[in-house]
Amino acid sequence: MRICVIGAGYVGLVTAVCVAEFGHEVYCLDVDEERIESLKRGEVPFYEPGLGELLKKNADAGRFVFTTDKVEALKRAEIVFIAVGTPMNPADGTVDLSFVESACADIATIIAPGTIVVDKSTVPVGTARKVKNLLLANGAPENIEVLSNPEFLREGTAVGDFMQPDRVVIGADNKQAAEKLMMVYKPLLDEGRQFLVTSPESAELVKYASNAFLAVKLTFINEIALLADRIGIDAIEVAKGIGLDKRIGSKFLHPGPGFGGSCLPKDTNGLLHIAKDFGADLNLVETAVRTNEEIPRALVERIDGLVEGLCGKIVGVLGLAFKGGTDDVRESPAIKLIKVLLEKGAKVYAYDPQGERLARRELGDSIVYTESIEAAIEGAEVVVIATEWPEFGQIAPREIARLMRGDLFADFRNLHEPNEIKAAGLRYIGMGRG
Ligand SMILES: NC(=O)c1ccc[n+]([C@@H]2O[C@H](COP(=O)([O-])OP(=O)(O)OC[C@H]3O[C@@H](n4cnc5c(N)ncnc54)[C@H](O)[C@@H]3O)[C@@H](O)[C@H]2O)c1
Repeated sequence: MRICVIGAGYVGLVTAVCVAEFGHEVYCLDVDEERIESLKRGEVPFYEPGLGELLKKNADAGRFVFTTDKVEALKRAEIVFIAVGTPMNPADGTVDLSFVESACADIATIIAPGTIVVDKSTVPVGTARKVKNLLLANGAPENIEVLSNPEFLREGTAVGDFMQPDRVVIGADNKQAAEKLMMVYKPLLDEGRQFLVTSPESAELVKYASNAFLAVKLTFINEIALLADRIGIDAIEVAKGIGLDKRIGSKFLHPGPGFGGSCLPKDTNGLLHIAKDFGADLNLVETAVRTNEEIPRALVERIDGLVEGLCGKIVGVLGLAFKGGTDDVRESPAIKLIKVLLEKGAKVYAYDPQGERLARRELGDSIVYTESIEAAIEGAEVVVIATEWPEFGQIAPREIARLMRGDLFADFRNLHEPNEIKAAGLRYIGMGRG
């Protein structure tokens, strides 16, 4: 099939590369000329393991065109995926649909009769219908279809998640259009992967509800961890005991400095606004959002108390990205911790294997970016592990103690064994380690 993907970001580019791998002819359209130029050279504009290799393989096989030219991208496209950003409006937490709306205005008069337009972006309930009306109002042919097909990939493991999904959810009123979209994923159908066809509205809500569930689960274990710290017991063994119950499961039961990233914070807020629009309260989700926002400050307050004031103190922070395996710093707990540390007057030296470029946009020159773990912790009075890159768990505690000037080690990702840190002569705090 001939497919156009609009938006060459984390989701759009992974979608484009993976459907090319399924054997389709793919046009990937973006308004960002620099991004398209780098993709034409075979360079992935962000860090995502495995994506560059798959991109090269499919570009070499001639199944791929990157372009900023809408006509070239859309002419004869049978399926058009919209994968542009849907950020949170900073003022009120609602979903900003302006990129989706402008993509619709861009394509309405170019798409051919019978085209299937697919919302892959995470969009509020009712958006598929809204997109169809918008396309028609802008001059699109009458017989187009608009479907919802939310994406569940995780940054850092995006290619594997797309190629081996737990489920593919398709929201469609038109059975034939749903079947045609299923054929895009034919290798996954042949493998026996789970496909679920629902109404467009249900598919849209599945995405928000899934992310809200994960956010609630993470917040739950974070609160249990804070309780375990007060009791003086280890939340890791408590989490293990909870997770062994098959009804609960062990995933997303790892305490940390709060959930972040491009999806959970924005989608939990988005869901609260969707609920409000329909006159419903989601108290559980609301509490999770509020609790999550409070965690970084509470953790820094704890450090502040232990060092008798952070003002003027040097803090080495390991991690900037919102999780290991990505360069994405959107809503990163590491950045939130750093902002509170700076507010308290600390001087921050930070290292992240991939996150510096994007972190600079948020933090500018307010911190010192280092080239290595050692450079971040050398001379520090406090060291904070903020992101779970595996290498942060591999530095020997004695080496940490040797490099530091002070003795407080705050491992908010629980990468180290508390006893080993203490044996190296350091004071230790973790997330729920007693
Ligand atoms: N990042 C994730 O892990 C993830 C996972 C699942 C779902 N989602 C959802 O997928 C959507 C995209 O997220 P992302 O992280 O890939 O965003 P992103 O910001 O990385 O990429 C969006 C891309 O769209 C391009 N764009 C914007 N307007 C355009 C237009 N009119 N025409 C062509 N290109 C345009 C931008 O230049 C950018 O390259 C969001 O709704 C997000 O919630 C993201």
